[in-house]
Amino acid sequence: MKKLTATLTLLAGAAALTFAATAQAEPDGEAIYNQACMACHMTGAAGAPIKGDEAAWSERLEQGMDTLYAHSIDGIGAMPPKGGHANLSDEEVKAAVDFMLEPVL
Ligand code: HEC
Repeated sequence: MKKLTATLTLLAGAAALTFAATAQAEPDGEAIYNQACMACHMTGAAGAPIKGDEAAWSERLEQGMDTLYAHSIDGIGAMPPKGGHANLSDEEVKAAVDFMLEPVL
């Protein structure tokens, strides 16, 4: 029994460490965009502004980055919250927004 408790304690410690390492790492905006945003934002599906399309983004950019982040997290029009990927953290969604807007900033 003692051994089992020790093993469980070790496992819990390892899980906590893994979590801390994940939480501290900078989210990879490109990977998140490719996985969660590209389907709409590369094709313009459902009227999504396309990555790199300056005309499509110029008016939206006037709202300011905070509003763009908020709309990405909460959803806007035909876009579901976080692009339908509720598992993403707010930080991950913001990193994807940064990556998507890089060419038009
Ligand atoms: C299911 C399709 C779809 C997916 C997936 C999607 N979007 Fe969108 N997105 C849209 C559409 C459609 C709009 C335009 C909505 C409108 O203005 O009515 C939009 C608009 C936006 C805007 C502009 C918001 C504004 O205030 O003008 C940002 C920023 C954005 N998306 C970021 C993202 C990010 C980041 C992801 C991935 C995490 C993502 N989107 C995934 C469809 C999608």
